Amino acid sequence: MSDANSSKTVNISVRTFVTIAVVVSLVAAVMAFGVTGLLVTIFQRQQEARDPFMRVVEVTDDTVDPSIWGMNFPMQYDQYKRTVDMVRTRFGGSEAVPRYPDSDDPRSETARSKIEMNPRLKRMWAGYAFAIDYREARGHAYMLEDQTLTQRHQVQQYGNCMNCHASVYTTYKELGDGDIQAGFEKLNPMIYEEARKLVEHPVSCIDCHDPETMQLRITRPAFREGIRVAKAAEGIDDYDVDTMATRQEMRSFVCAQCHVEYYFAPDESRRLTFPWHKGLRGDDALAYFDEIDFTDWVHADTGAPMLKAQHPEFELWSQGTHAQAGVSCADCHMPYMRKGALKISDHHVRSPLLNINNACQTCHKVPEEELFERAERIQERTVEMQDLALDALMDFIDSIVAAKEAGMPEEQLAEAQYCQRAATFLIDFVEAENSMGFHAPQESARLLFKAMDYMRRGNVALEETPETTAEEADISEDEAAVLVEEEQA
Ligand code: HEC
Ligand code: HEC
Ligand code: HEC
Ligand code: HEC
Ligand code: HEC
Repeated sequence: MSDANSSKTVNISVRTFVTIAVVVSLVAAVMAFGVTGLLVTIFQRQQEARDPFMRVVEVTDDTVDPSIWGMNFPMQYDQYKRTVDMVRTRFGGSEAVPRYPDSDDPRSETARSKIEMNPRLKRMWAGYAFAIDYREARGHAYMLEDQTLTQRHQVQQYGNCMNCHASVYTTYKELGDGDIQAGFEKLNPMIYEEARKLVEHPVSCIDCHDPETMQLRITRPAFREGIRVAKAAEGIDDYDVDTMATRQEMRSFVCAQCHVEYYFAPDESRRLTFPWHKGLRGDDALAYFDEIDFTDWVHADTGAPMLKAQHPEFELWSQGTHAQAGVSCADCHMPYMRKGALKISDHHVRSPLLNINNACQTCHKVPEEELFERAERIQERTVEMQDLALDALMDFIDSIVAAKEAGMPEEQLAEAQYCQRAATFLIDFVEAENSMGFHAPQESARLLFKAMDYMRRGNVALEETPETTAEEADISEDEAAVLVEEEQA
């Protein structure tokens, strides 16, 4: 009996437990539903408050002109137009330099010349178009005119340049009969001057937004492909950015369509490609370029097969603390701002150091002065390291030139030339990146340190001539003699 009883007790308690569990989970589900429902409502309200969607004019998937979109969204448009402002910070922003307009170039103002401010860059790129003309970046409003008028056109350029300097979404669509990818393939190999006739505006609303929903979207095939291979390198296969990216990721991905290192396929397709097949770090890109045996140009002084790095903001950001913490490009460069009762994203894309209140203090509750100092201290240190690396590079180039003139055998020279290629690319990865180390301080330092190591290895390779080996042997004999004497004493 007692056995039966106890089993009954057990049964009852199990049943009670199950009942309680079911009730508890039901209550939890109801509560969760309620809370979710509430959150959804709050979110919708917030969205409504932020974006009343008062459509004054119809905007379609063919409306390129931002002033038409601006009728529906005047506040975003007003801020967008302000990207013409030129204000400098200590290491960033931009400064207007007056110039006399001439028949080749009607601009009465340009940005400062980086190669004039830092002539070592000219030597670093000797023999390449960047040694002719390379200026500070400025606001989005200038992107098309600055590209059209750069002296780098002394070398023939192609339609592939256009991807990041113009509103090309509808151009791709038209060229490809509705197929963006096909249009991209057609624009890439076109002569620059022909391609230039097909575009009219700098990056416009349509390049970042779906006109129906105003959601962010990817409009550049090169990024779609690039992020797919980058994810594959991380072990994620078949990544589809259009369906798999989160909203927060999109707040960086729209920028990463342009603010990245790139190259053009060295065949007749001239296809714009992102070198992310081995990962996003500077040395990953170097390893990839080595593997496919890619060369941008041959160095005029040394004959080394060189690589040029360009604005890898997305890549360096991805290695930093802020990316780790899920902070997007837009969080700092397009922060929310109040406009009367509304909250909008600040479309005046610029240096966050000109806007610390909105750009940083939403997260960092410390005084503006302190944030400014923290950012500048990171930048000062990066400049110091970069200066040391550039000085070392100038000496290293001198040494290769001397070895070449002294008739060093090709094979031995090739090793030093490779080290020049690698060191230059890694220094450039930090130099060409526009935050001066801020986006990823330690990663920037690592790349510069690695560049120094390549130069050390290159110098060792140059020293290994028969003569110097003999000299070294003499020295060690002397040293050995001294040591023996010391030991005997
Ligand atoms: C945590 C904030 C933060 C995030 C996130 C961030 N940046 Fe920056 N960015 C900065 C700061 C600070 C500078 C330095 C500005 C200066 O020196 O005036 C900077 C500089 C830049 C510059 C040069 C601006 C200038 O005026 O010289 C560009 C371009 C840029 N960032 C693009 C990006 C892109 C693209 C992303 C995302 C992949 C990104 N940033 C993410 C804070 C941020
Ligand atoms: C993958 C996108 C991308 C492509 C392709 C691209 N650019 Fe740019 N370009 C940028 C970004 C981002 C900046 C601003 C950051 C900077 O200057 O470092 C810029 C800046 C510039 C500037 C102003 C600063 C300077 O370098 O003097 C010029 C001029 C320029 N590009 C010309 C060109 C030409 C010519 C081509 C084709 C060979 C080209 N760009 C292709 C993204 C791109
Ligand atoms: C279609 C390509 C493209 C897209 C998309 C793009 N940029 Fe740019 N961005 C450029 C180019 C090109 C320049 C340089 C224009 C010039 O110097 O004439 C530039 C300039 C800038 C500058 C000013 C740099 C300076 O030194 O003053 C900042 C900051 C910046 N971009 C951040 C961003 C952020 C953040 C995003 C995403 C929200 C973004 N960009 C999206 C191409 C692009
Ligand atoms: C370089 C990319 C880029 C361009 C160009 C751009 N936007 Fe945006 N826009 C953004 C980002 C990023 C957000 C924030 C979206 C989010 O958080 O989901 C945004 C948000 C918006 C929103 C939603 C409300 C808000 O302010 O957050 C509107 C409306 C809008 N943009 C209008 C425009 C208009 C109008 C233009 C052209 C004049 C334009 N945008 C050009 C990147 C861009
Ligand atoms: C959306 C939130 C957010 C914004 C906006 C933001 N930060 Fe941060 N910041 C963080 C977080 C989170 C960390 C990491 C803190 C940690 O891990 O303890 C961080 C770390 C830092 C660090 C130390 C890490 C490093 O890279 O050395 C500095 C410096 C910093 N932020 C400065 C800034 C500045 C300057 C701005 C504005 C340009 C800014 N932050 C904007 C959230 C933000």
